[in-house]
Formats: sequence, C-alpha cells, structure tokens
Amino acid sequence: MMRLTIIGFGNQARAWAQNLKDSRFPVRIALRGKNASYSHAISLGLETIEIGSEEFYQDQYFALLIPDHSHANFLQQYGNQFRSGSIILYAHGYSLLKNHLTSLFPNLNHVLFAPKSIGTELRSQYLTKGKLGAVFSTENLKQDEELFLQWMESFSKALGINLGPYKTSIKNETQADLYSEQGLLCSLIPYAASEMFRDLTDKGIEPELAYFECWHELKLIVNAMVEVGPKSFFDLISPNALIGSEKGYHKLFTKDFQDNLKSLLTDIQNQSFHKEIDETNVEDLRSRIKLRWEESPLQKTFEKIQQENR
Ligand SMILES: NC(=O)c1ccc[n+]([C@@H]2O[C@H](COP(=O)([O-])OP(=O)(O)OC[C@H]3O[C@@H](n4cnc5c(N)ncnc54)[C@H](OP(=O)(O)O)[C@@H]3O)[C@@H](O)[C@H]2O)c1
Repeated sequence: MMRLTIIGFGNQARAWAQNLKDSRFPVRIALRGKNASYSHAISLGLETIEIGSEEFYQDQYFALLIPDHSHANFLQQYGNQFRSGSIILYAHGYSLLKNHLTSLFPNLNHVLFAPKSIGTELRSQYLTKGKLGAVFSTENLKQDEELFLQWMESFSKALGINLGPYKTSIKNETQADLYSEQGLLCSLIPYAASEMFRDLTDKGIEPELAYFECWHELKLIVNAMVEVGPKSFFDLISPNALIGSEKGYHKLFTKDFQDNLKSLLTDIQNQSFHKEIDETNVEDLRSRIKLRWEESPLQKTFEKIQQENR
C-alpha cells in the first residue's frame, strides 16, 4: 500500500495519523521543525520528517492538513518540487475553490477527501467503532482514476470511514460545509444554548440544571437523532416535548429567520464570504471569541461541573 505523508499535525491531522497508524496503514508526518507538534507526534510513536527535506519528496500521496488560508503559500514554497503527478489530499475544498490551486499547480493532482467530522470525534468514533462519513472529489485527477480509487478504498477504511465515502464536487463540499458551520453547527447550536442558559439562570433556575438542559443533553439528543433518523426521533420524545417542539418550530422559524439563513448561503455562493475571510485576522478573532466564552456563565458552569465530577 502506498504510504501517505500528512503535512501538519493539527486537529484533523492528529486524528488521521493515529487512526491510520492503528489500522496499520503506512503513514508519516511532515513538520516544519522540531517544535511541540514534533514532540507530540514522536510521543505517539509516529514517524516524522521535515517539510522540504529530500525524503519529504519521496512519496506520491500527501494530505495537506494545515489551515486553509496557508495552502496557497505552502504550495508556492514547495509545490514545484513535488514529484510530477503527486496526489495531494485536502480535507476541505475551500482553498482549491478560492485560490484556484489546480490551475496554479498543474503538476499536482488536487483531490478532495473530506471526513465529515471534527478531528477529535474522528479519533474517538474510530476508537469506539462509531459511524463516520466522508465525501471525495476526483474532478482534478489527471491520472488513472481506478488506481486512485483502489488506494482510496483502503485508506478510507483505515481512517475509520464507514458511511461512504460519497462522491461530490469541490464546489459543493465547500458551500455545504461553510453553510452548515454558519447556520447550524458553529452558530445556532452554541449561541442558542448560551442564550437559553442565561434566560433560565436569570429566572432563578440552578446553573447545574440549566447546564444539563442546554448543553450536556445536546450530545445525548443528537446521538438519538442520528441513530434513529429524523422521523423516528419524534416517536422517542414525550408528548410535552412533541407539543413544545411544534410550538418552538412555528414560533422561531419565522420568514425573517429563513431569509437570514438563505442569505448566509447566498453570501457563500456569490463568494462575498470569501472576501470576509480574507479581511479577517483569524488569531485575533479566535482570541476575542474565546474571551467572550471564557466570561460566559455557561462556560463557568461547565468548568465547575467538570471539576466536581472528576
Ligand atoms: N479542525 C477540524 O477538525 C477540521 C474539520 C474538517 C476539516 N478540516 C480541514 O482540515 C485542514 C486542517 O485544518 P485543522 O483545523 O486541522 O488545522 P490546524 O489544527 O490549524 O493545523 C495546525 C497544523 O498546521 C501546521 N501549519 C500551520 N501553518 C503551517 C505552514 N505555513 N506550513 C507548515 N505547517 C503549518 C502547524 O504546524 P506547527 O505544529 O509547526 O505549528 C500545525 O501542525 C483544513 O483544510 C480544514 O479545513 C479541519
């Protein structure tokens, strides 16, 4: 089996590397120096090499698992030295779509392979034999697709993917991923939880109870939703929850809300969101958001419950 060189050792890369290693799929990690990521990878028994070293260019299969905004610069620096026909896997289509990497680096095969999971869950679901989905696109592959698909089948299984992988396009994956982050996964869920936690505690409900209702139970109910599917989920909930669900649905999903959701997708599709990304200092934004959450009563209650129940 052809080895995969993973570039970077961040959130997604750590899960890929450990899952592949545990599945005995040949893998190594390419890093930019002997820093904390290097020590971490070594402590997990992973083979590491330095990006740009002679041995780095030996392989034909790479996964570029560094932040999306750094892909273009990375390839400017190293892209022309890869063996012609090398395959570069991307876990998200954004940089391919935004930076036109395929036409800038025609010597490489830019392939999308996107597990639909954050890194930590990719690892924990692998360990517990949970369900993990992925999508892929070979639209930029210029060589024998059959050969690549054979490799991908083994690679995908070794990574722990057991739903698909399903074929898509780079554009579709990018748009769907950005939209689900903006409209549901990374906005609606955490911020609705925080608002509701505040409403409950303002009215004198104990923070521990509010925490269970608004945060911890999320995980349990989503597990049930995904396990049984949307229709049967509504068989599982109590009559009060059913009536409340219907009331909340009609009250909250107003035309304004639906229009706002659609406008998020419009901004993604007309690429004005790409401009917002370009104009944002990510580290600065992350610090400000973390500060907001650090101060939040929901976070403080989370920490208290964690500490009390160690
Ligand atoms: N976060 C997720 O779970 C998730 C989910 C789905 C898809 N993805 C996709 O997976 C890819 C990786 O995202 P991520 O969130 O896992 O990234 P990340 O955690 O931010 O990646 C950090 C790693 O990238 C390395 N790195 C950063 N800039 C570099 C550069 N210029 N040259 C070389 N190495 C560099 C860092 O090196 P040092 O160790 O030297 O600092 C570190 O090892 C992205 O395409 C993302 O869209 C991520």
